[in-house]
Amino acid sequence: MAGAAATKNPTRDAVPSTRTVNTIAGLRAVLDERRRAGASVALVPTMGALHDGHLALVRRARELADVVVVSIFVNPLQFGPTEDLDRYPRTLEADVAALTGLGVEVVFAPDVAEMYPNGPAGTRVGAGPAGERYEGAHRPGHFDGMLTVVAKLFSIAQPDVAVFGQKDAQQVFLVGRMIADLDLRLRLEVVPTVREADGLALSSRNRFLDDDERVAALVLAESLDAAHTAAADGTSELLAEGVAAFGDHDGVDLDYLVVVDPATFLPIDEAFAGQALVLVAARVGATRLIDNAFVEVGAKQPPSPAE
Ligand code: PAF
Repeated sequence: MAGAAATKNPTRDAVPSTRTVNTIAGLRAVLDERRRAGASVALVPTMGALHDGHLALVRRARELADVVVVSIFVNPLQFGPTEDLDRYPRTLEADVAALTGLGVEVVFAPDVAEMYPNGPAGTRVGAGPAGERYEGAHRPGHFDGMLTVVAKLFSIAQPDVAVFGQKDAQQVFLVGRMIADLDLRLRLEVVPTVREADGLALSSRNRFLDDDERVAALVLAESLDAAHTAAADGTSELLAEGVAAFGDHDGVDLDYLVVVDPATFLPIDEAFAGQALVLVAARVGATRLIDNAFVEVGAKQPPSPAE
């Protein structure tokens, strides 16, 4: 599969016009025809409200496959009862316009009845314990709902490659693990987080920040910078500096700042040395934001007997 996605096809240089398809059968018909002609397929799953971060995923997808499909579906299964499902921006027209000229062949924009004809209580994919930590602890059931819709999208589109953003680090980890655990025939491509010039990670939720909150939100990136700088001194220094960056910012509530082994998503201890991933989540006003960064952790030397 990865081989198919890696093959450069000269027809890829021509920019196809974008069509919007609302049904599973319609998408399958388009993709079956393209596959019969030898085309490889990349899928970029989104919930719409597209920003430059999403467009970076699309550009990468276009490099990797002949046909790019962008799905736009606000998945009710991954929202908890107290979460912002109704508030989540639905901007299909603007999203399709933003994708114009980027070589997206199909926007797949099903409605809820198309995706869940038997209602929300059907079969789910379980994220397991790794889906219950960090974001999962704050949003019970979120990752089961996310994996369920992603598995459905993979089954519907049968892409050679799926492109996700590192911004949602735990999501990326869980999707990668699902692909491995269920032996799915596709490759996961992860694109680095796109940031504003001042460091704020792009997010569909940034639009909810007022001017003061927008400034305050920078503390997430600052905490990651502080953790990055302290990482050479070891795990507890990194965590202390990352948390200290939050200081006494008015209107910002740190939810968690943790450092995990990217291979397991379990917290690292003092003996850990090597590449680790710092995850941070905070509420800025009414808006909950997440961010993450890779750091190189230095091993703590055991105290010498003379100390
Ligand atoms: O990252 C998102 O936008 C969503 O979680 C996804 C992957 C599209 C599934 O609904």
